[in-house]
Amino acid sequence: MKPIQVGLLGIGTVGGGTFSVLLRNREEISRRAGRAIVITTVADKDTARAKAITQGEATITDDAFSVVNDPAIDIVVELIGGTGVAKQLVMKAIENGKHVVTANKALLAHHGNEIFAAAHKKGVMVAFEAAVAGGVPIIKSLREGLAANRIEWIVGIINGTSNFILSKMRETGASFAQVLEQAKALGYAEADPTFDIEGIDAAHKLTLMSAIGFGIPMQFSAAYTEGISKLTREDIRFAEELGYRIKLLGITKRTAAGIELRVHPTLIPKERLIANVEGVMNAIVVKGDAVGQTMFYGAGAGAEPTGSAVIGDLIDVARTLTADPEHRVPHLAFQPDQLSDIALLPMDEVNTAYYLRLQVLDQPGVLADITRILADLGISIGAMVQKEPTEGETSVNIIMLTHQTLEKQVNQAIAKIEALAVVTGKVTRIRLEELDS
Ligand code: HSE
Repeated sequence: MKPIQVGLLGIGTVGGGTFSVLLRNREEISRRAGRAIVITTVADKDTARAKAITQGEATITDDAFSVVNDPAIDIVVELIGGTGVAKQLVMKAIENGKHVVTANKALLAHHGNEIFAAAHKKGVMVAFEAAVAGGVPIIKSLREGLAANRIEWIVGIINGTSNFILSKMRETGASFAQVLEQAKALGYAEADPTFDIEGIDAAHKLTLMSAIGFGIPMQFSAAYTEGISKLTREDIRFAEELGYRIKLLGITKRTAAGIELRVHPTLIPKERLIANVEGVMNAIVVKGDAVGQTMFYGAGAGAEPTGSAVIGDLIDVARTLTADPEHRVPHLAFQPDQLSDIALLPMDEVNTAYYLRLQVLDQPGVLADITRILADLGISIGAMVQKEPTEGETSVNIIMLTHQTLEKQVNQAIAKIEALAVVTGKVTRIRLEELDS
């Protein structure tokens, strides 16, 4: 059978990994796909780099549009990233009847609804395993392996850079700024690390998983996003002393009131498997009504791990090329006319537990004032410790763990507590999830 011809747009880290794995494993890949899959054309602005990687095995161009307009190309692999030219190229490829494989989470989180609608209309596939958690096959697992389940929640460590920073802060007692520099030197964090450390990259990925898990459209703009840049080593240490570890979690949950979609630093009990995911690794826990909790763990970035996900999609597309579009696995797991309009919850309506750290003057009546505020708002305290003042300090740290309550109640409590004359500085609030079954 005629080989599948692939046009690769962008041959940076992931493109290079994809190219070399496809070449190295071509025989087994073709036995799996039923026909050979060959990257025949590579588009990259840096044609010298592209030539060095492809070693004469592909035609090189600096004009990506010539690839998406080439009638010989069956599948376009988009690894350019961003929401600008990448969107134009993907839309053009779809218009030209080509299947698309992409690792571009930002593009899909922002424009996925439009892209999938265009692909559906045209009868082509847009596959995106590599967009979430690199080499971890979470999209396929959610969409196919867990298809029997009513998904209850999905919780993930889906940004390796942030997880590396949090692991190092805990292990070494270093500050956020110190470890960020280390992450940059190791090439984990970009020169502008905003997307990684402010939770935006994680929110992109969570948006995709939420859509697939619950059968809803992509709604990135409704996601609550808070990063790790304000976390202190003290909070990490205090959490540890209380039996918890702080992780940047993406959390999406189905509740009676609507769907939660949130990324923020979160305390989780130290003994949970996901609390022990360290360094740049990713992990996602999915709770389904039938299967219970399942955890998916692996490399969330990197040339060959992400290349593995891209090629898995290429094989999937190759296998289904002969199937009628209506018999393929739907892009968002649910049939396009069966998406639900269940509302996403504003953060105020989210119900979770909290770690609160207050700096207060060490004098009689302070605790009574604080606990009165919490009690009046119906917030129940689960645990509390007071730390000895450090030398020369007049205020002490009080750490409270609350039971589950509404975010808006906690917001009110924090405002009232911060207004007390005996409270010095801002209240630190970190959300807490037990993740028990
Ligand atoms: N920058 C991401 C991370 C990998 O640190 O996990 C690509 O999404």
